[in-house]
Amino acid sequence: MSTIIVDTPVTAGLGKLFSKHGLSLKTVVLFDEHTHDLFGDLLLDTLRKEGFQYRVLVIPAREASKSFSVAYRLYGSMIEEDVDRTWNLLACGGGVVGDLGGFMAASYFRGIPIIQLPTTLLAMTDSAIGGKVAINHPLGKNLIGFFHMPELVLIDPAFLRTLPEREIFAGMAEVVKYGFISDEGFLFFLERHFDDIVALREPWLSEAIRKSAGIKADVVKKDFRETTGLRATLNFGHTFAHGLEKLADYRFLRHGEAVTIGMVCALFLSRNLGFLDENSLQKGLAILGKFRFPRGIVKRRFLDTGDTALLESMLVDKKKFDRKLRFVLLKNLGEAFLFTKDVDDATVLESIANGKEFFRKLKGN
Ligand SMILES: NC(=O)c1ccc[n+]([C@@H]2O[C@H](COP(=O)([O-])OP(=O)(O)OC[C@H]3O[C@@H](n4cnc5c(N)ncnc54)[C@H](O)[C@@H]3O)[C@@H](O)[C@H]2O)c1
Ligand SMILES: [Zn+2]
Repeated sequence: MSTIIVDTPVTAGLGKLFSKHGLSLKTVVLFDEHTHDLFGDLLLDTLRKEGFQYRVLVIPAREASKSFSVAYRLYGSMIEEDVDRTWNLLACGGGVVGDLGGFMAASYFRGIPIIQLPTTLLAMTDSAIGGKVAINHPLGKNLIGFFHMPELVLIDPAFLRTLPEREIFAGMAEVVKYGFISDEGFLFFLERHFDDIVALREPWLSEAIRKSAGIKADVVKKDFRETTGLRATLNFGHTFAHGLEKLADYRFLRHGEAVTIGMVCALFLSRNLGFLDENSLQKGLAILGKFRFPRGIVKRRFLDTGDTALLESMLVDKKKFDRKLRFVLLKNLGEAFLFTKDVDDATVLESIANGKEFFRKLKGN
């Protein structure tokens, strides 16, 4: 299992830390253009001072960088720069850098260690933890990849100060998800301190990150290869979300925004199927009502979409692989399970309609 450290500055004493974990002081640092501009000087300066030998790779800051052609080009640079299996790779960025970096590390010279230095809230609480690394294929997202556990996950909440608000809310969706699936107390902590956390106020921000990272790591430890249904609960809200993201061409809606909307629908579905009581539903909705979206996004990307069109979109990939839609439901706040029975279309459509009704009544979006 990985060692996860949450601290500011998390890179203090990096040389010693690497040595302690059996990592060489030879590292390939992967950035995207933004994280290179924002954190490059500081990080490379630290590496110099700590006695590292390093190489730098920079990719365009976009989802399309998670591609085989980008990986192929980067392998070339690494070979040309004499990077062999005694090196490791340090991924400094959001989920795109972390996933591509992990993919490169898992495959280069049959695998070198990966160290994650996440810089978005989503990466700090979700994508950098758990070892799922992948690139996209033109026929689908995250289809080509590995399970490659990071040796270290180094989280510095101070990195979030430059992150746009939209990205903070997107990451916050996954944070709230952890409360829903496994810890009611945490969920109420998040409700109480929602504004503090999205304003990046300490100690609430670090507390929320530490707790989320801990829950994710724990779930992954118990069900690494997603065989028991436990790891699948991390997909609460995601069946709806994937349909929405697909309809938005993976461009006009952030993953976390789709997950927020998806969790609203999943709460209604849990109620409609008789698993969640009305009181818990309302408490859950109150928390999700705190999320803010860029103007017009919910209307264009959810309310104006036909319920059936969304259901069809949710089904597209599943049909190809001959699988049914599967939903993660709540029994209680803080208690999720993977529902393995089929849910009839009418109940799914009703839950989408309930979700729309909720957002229509909500002010400010
Ligand atoms: N491996 C997993 O388990 C897992 C889980 C969830 C998501 N993902 C993947 O993660 C990706 C999304 O990650 P993301 O939401 O972090 O997006 P991202 O990596 O695209 O980052 C979002 C934007 O923020 C910028 N940025 C990053 N850190 C910044 C900072 N501190 N200040 C200012 N700007 C900053 C980036 O350059 C980028 O423009 C998707 O590809 C998704 O498939 C993977
Ligand atoms: Zn997610």
